[in-house]
Amino acid sequence: MIEVKPETPDDWWEVEALYDLCFAPGRTALSSYRLRDDVPPVAGLSLVARDSDGTLAGAIRFWPVHVGDLDALLLGPVAVHPTHQGEGLGGFLIQEGLEAGREGGWARVMLVGDAPYYSRFGFARLEGVEMPPPTNPDRVLGLELIPGAWTGVSGRVTRWTR
Ligand SMILES: CC(C)(COP(=O)(O)OP(=O)(O)OC[C@H]1O[C@@H](n2cnc3c(N)ncnc32)[C@H](O)[C@@H]1OP(=O)(O)O)[C@@H](O)C(=O)NCCC(=O)NCCS
Repeated sequence: MIEVKPETPDDWWEVEALYDLCFAPGRTALSSYRLRDDVPPVAGLSLVARDSDGTLAGAIRFWPVHVGDLDALLLGPVAVHPTHQGEGLGGFLIQEGLEAGREGGWARVMLVGDAPYYSRFGFARLEGVEMPPPTNPDRVLGLELIPGAWTGVSGRVTRWTR
């Protein structure tokens, strides 16, 4: 039995520890983290999943970013504890987060990740959307929450300033 709830400030360091466990060392040196520096995640979209004894099983966070002059959600990090991987929890967190983003009025979502995994949710490579270097352009993926929201959108991804 897994319970999914919005992340609270008390969850912060436990989620960080899960990300440290699930990602390669030095994850915060990735260029995507420069878009998160000094910017809080989007309130209400970040989720934690706990099993019946309260142990953290998975987490997802979303940040706001600019792409050119437009706004977008940056999905991630998302991680599932190794003891719960392959049970559908990652997919559930992603779907729930995307739905919350849609309800929150966001038009488009992007991420840096593995296309073979994220394509199942409808993510596809974003041509002309430039993450801070060094980022492999093949890993820059997008999903429309409003039809057409990525059409004709290009430019640099920059840190949220609104
Ligand atoms: C990626 C991750 C969040 C997926 O969560 P999960 O709960 O294990 O995934 P689900 O149960 O929803 O889906 C499992 C499916 O995804 C596939 N999958 C998982 N990671 C994948 C990847 N990097 N590339 C391709 N497929 C992947 C599995 O093979 C499985 O495929 P199947 O449905 O055909 O059997 C989790 O494995 C994880 O935390 N990994 C380490 C951190 C990480 O890499 N996160 C971001 C990925 S860019």
